[in-house]
Amino acid sequence: MELHPHEILVLKALKSAAAPQDVAAQSGLPQDTVLRAASWLKTKGLVEFSEALSEDVSLGDEGGSYAVKGLPERQLIELAGRGVKLDELKAKVAPEVFNIGFGWLRRKKQVEVKDGVVKVLSSGKTDDEILFEILKKGTVNTGKLDKKMLAALALLRSRKNVVAVKEVKAITLKPTKEGLKVALDTKEDDRLSQLTPELLATGGWRDKSFRPYDTGVYVSPDAPAKKHPLRRQINKVRSIFTGMGFTEIKGPLVESAFWNFDCLFQPQDHPAREMHDTFYLKCPQSVDIEGFGRFRECVKRTHEDGGDTGSCGWGGKWNPETAKKTLLRTHTTAVTARHLAKIRREDLPVKVFSIGKVFRNEAVDYKHLPEFYQVEGIVVDPSVNFPNLLGILKQFYDEMGFQKVRFRPGYFPYTEMSVEPDVWFEEKKEWIELGGSGIFRPEVVKPLLGFDCPVLAWGLGLDRVVALSLGLKDIRELYMSDVEWLKDN
Ligand code: PHE
Repeated sequence: MELHPHEILVLKALKSAAAPQDVAAQSGLPQDTVLRAASWLKTKGLVEFSEALSEDVSLGDEGGSYAVKGLPERQLIELAGRGVKLDELKAKVAPEVFNIGFGWLRRKKQVEVKDGVVKVLSSGKTDDEILFEILKKGTVNTGKLDKKMLAALALLRSRKNVVAVKEVKAITLKPTKEGLKVALDTKEDDRLSQLTPELLATGGWRDKSFRPYDTGVYVSPDAPAKKHPLRRQINKVRSIFTGMGFTEIKGPLVESAFWNFDCLFQPQDHPAREMHDTFYLKCPQSVDIEGFGRFRECVKRTHEDGGDTGSCGWGGKWNPETAKKTLLRTHTTAVTARHLAKIRREDLPVKVFSIGKVFRNEAVDYKHLPEFYQVEGIVVDPSVNFPNLLGILKQFYDEMGFQKVRFRPGYFPYTEMSVEPDVWFEEKKEWIELGGSGIFRPEVVKPLLGFDCPVLAWGLGLDRVVALSLGLKDIRELYMSDVEWLKDN
């Protein structure tokens, strides 16, 4: 067992039960150091603590005023001498001194009054007076008083303000059997616990030995400031993609329908565009779209008849006013679309990702929130293919700590092939849906990029995976800011 030098000193000083101040005197350590070492020894089962209540007794206000002349009964005895008339005696002192003093003299049967004359029967000090004399010299603890003195104390306490009593807790330290054994078996520790500038300068450390840290010691948990668990996971996602050679891109939360939907070949009458899924903005209701002029014709033609993408489009008329509407982005794929439009042929291959909030008008329940995080990415590279996409997602989830991933066929207006990855959540024995992925359709790539090239793309929800990894059954708890929960996670 690793013991601190103070613990060894205390243990060696503690041959039997003793008060901390005695151990302090014996060991040469300050009393609070003794107590600190003793509580460590207690956690190690080497020392026991016991507490006893006792009282510190000193003179009270009234008692203090008797300190010089003595108790009232003593004053009267002195004045009475061999015998005195009651009236004379009365006249010699203040009325309250007479009343109190005479009362006590009678109670203690020290006087007798006959024919108006006071006669002292015994003038010796009674026990209460002896205790009073002791208290005049200073405070006394009841632990130090014998039975007789305790009875005397009871008498003094029955008088008003003669004594003042304060309750005190006395700690007694006692070595356990094991403690006594360890004390015998342990040598005093002269190893150093601190490397000082002097030791370094003189090289004195060379022939000293140092105490090692005891990493097994229990310390009570601390709750320092830290990042929110969701933020930590986001940072982890960021470092995984960065580690895989991706660069982070960002985009606005307020988007135009153009970048959020039209560029992604979502038909203008797609149900996801309607109010129940998308938060449209009242103000501003529409915007001049950045890059609109450059892409407007291509996007319009792609929607109407496929343009030169080889597709036949959605048919009907494409309405620029619908594209100009403002909304809170419903997916980070809008960020991807904006980036795709900036890539030049000489930039290839391109690997980018983005992490951010997206917004959908969903009914809130244990697995849906109206705003949540997505992590989105694309690889734009003439040499990549569908298995590469699956490989990237697998690696990502592997690094996130999910070993089992499966891919289900999916559908998105902007990808072909499309898959929806799920991860296996062992604790719940359940597959969790994560989002979508696929290879962007030519209807997306050609108008934005300007040429054909495979683009692997994915957009995955983060909150659910994070909530489940943290053992939360309800996604809403992620945003509750419950301090106790935050401390532990
Ligand atoms: N945008 C899709 C979603 O929000 C995910 C996705 C991104 C699918 C990229 C395919 C490609 O669910």
